[in-house]
Amino acid sequence: MITTAVKKSVQAFKSSPKFEQPDYALKQTIPIRHLAIGFEGQEIDMSFYMNNQLATIFFATLSVFLTYGEDLVIETARFHRDMVNDPVLKQRVTSLIGQEAIHSKLHNEFNDAIAHEAINYPVALYRFLGEKFFDNIFLKFPQPLKLSMMAGIEHFTAVLAEYMMKHEKNFYYSDDAKTRAMWMWHMLEESEHKDIAYDVYQLLNGNYSLRAAGFFIALGTILGLIPFSTLFVPMLRKPKDMLTRKFWKDAGRGVSLIFSPKDGVFGSTMGQIFDYLRPDFHPNDHDTSAYLEYYKDKLLSEGGAIAPYLIKTFTPPVRH
Ligand SMILES: [Fe+2]
Ligand SMILES: [Fe+2]
Repeated sequence: MITTAVKKSVQAFKSSPKFEQPDYALKQTIPIRHLAIGFEGQEIDMSFYMNNQLATIFFATLSVFLTYGEDLVIETARFHRDMVNDPVLKQRVTSLIGQEAIHSKLHNEFNDAIAHEAINYPVALYRFLGEKFFDNIFLKFPQPLKLSMMAGIEHFTAVLAEYMMKHEKNFYYSDDAKTRAMWMWHMLEESEHKDIAYDVYQLLNGNYSLRAAGFFIALGTILGLIPFSTLFVPMLRKPKDMLTRKFWKDAGRGVSLIFSPKDGVFGSTMGQIFDYLRPDFHPNDHDTSAYLEYYKDKLLSEGGAIAPYLIKTFTPPVRH
């Protein structure tokens, strides 16, 4: 029902590609990095994010649901890759697919680990809900809308990545090196590939209203569904804790770490999130290249947070 109605309304959005393509050959190539982390439930710090449980649970919830978002990005990027004629942009789409596939794999390993009784995160329940939601609704949407959602999702991960790169210290409150490596590697790559989905959308469709629709769906999922699901985790996990003052103090601080307009992860980046609705928006209007260089250098070289887990780097070839 929903999907038939959506199909009909998407047909009303005429594609209008009016995109001036950059010379992709001038851009840095994007490697696919293979990591082996080996998460163990009993080692994971559930106060990893700035010594705060609720904010850490928010990121755990994001970890569970984002694997479905990544699967949507992979499926949609694969579907559209053949329609891209520029061989270098095509190569970049292959890099996007490869990076997202490994994100999804590693996050699933992390999600398996937080199901451990030491943590007791409701992974099975949320996976069941995530799967039903994506399989029955989002994945049934017509391809142009999925393309727009892909660009929208990638915008949110780009904003998150930029925030995290600008607040490096937030990942160093804990000794949990494995969780740190996962998030820092993920954020680095989200920033690295942030323009690909958008460029493909502009090239193959470009309709502004449809782009805005994809943005609002991503907004509702990331800033509606995920915070909402986070609220139930303490109840499902350790309901007795909720009777303590400590819990509510932690919860109050957690909400502010994510939503405070002053310096919260999403609260303080609302302007940048909604900048996506500017008709001439482009992800590279927010220049993150200096951060990216700094992090690649710092995290991937010996002694860096990602280095111990990096097993292979592969750059897809350009095929003419
Ligand atoms: Fe990702
Ligand atoms: Fe991404």
